[in-house]
Amino acid sequence: MSEERELKAGELETDDVLVRALNEADLEAVVRIDATASGRARREYYRDKVAASLRDSRLHMSLVAEVDGLVVGFLMSEMHYGEFGRAEPSAVIDSLAVHKDFRGRHVGAALMRQFVMNARAFGVEKIRTEVAWDALELVRFFSREGFHPGHRLVLERDIDDR
Ligand SMILES: CC(C)(COP(=O)(O)OP(=O)(O)OC[C@H]1O[C@@H](n2cnc3c(N)ncnc32)[C@H](O)[C@@H]1OP(=O)(O)O)[C@@H](O)C(=O)NCCC(=O)NCCS
Repeated sequence: MSEERELKAGELETDDVLVRALNEADLEAVVRIDATASGRARREYYRDKVAASLRDSRLHMSLVAEVDGLVVGFLMSEMHYGEFGRAEPSAVIDSLAVHKDFRGRHVGAALMRQFVMNARAFGVEKIRTEVAWDALELVRFFSREGFHPGHRLVLERDIDDR
């Protein structure tokens, strides 16, 4: 964790982090950051996601965070306008990662802050995400960000089960 300095009136912990919309040139940074979290280089997966994001900003919202000009974190989400029988627009965060060396420096919080502002502007009323039951780091982070278990069941089945 980083050293904390005392904040002056009007300052936010997230002020040192610049959050902006993702662009094509961010792909390598995204792949690298994800690899520090997942242990795998998922270049093709992210190439398609970045392309989809840039193609349709009504359906996807993707942000990156910079510290001292370096991309150190990203958040990707999909907008839902009625899927799963829901009436209200919602946003699903499907990828979030901060580079290992920059964790604990409010980068994740800065990404969430901007994401919530943008989502609100889209008319989104609910944000959702899924985490593996044993991804405690993410669970704690999302809990700190005000998330709690939802009221829906996530159902799944192996294709060859029956
Ligand atoms: C979860 C993650 C995004 C948090 O990012 P971060 O920049 O380190 O988080 P922040 O510094 O903004 O922390 C925000 C708040 O959450 C809390 N928090 C963050 N990580 C935490 C952890 N591991 N345990 C407990 N609390 C945590 C912080 O203490 C802080 O609360 P505070 O304001 O009261 O101090 C980051 O640890 C990460 O990328 N983890 C790996 C994610 C992953 O596996 N992604 C897979 C690819 S999709």
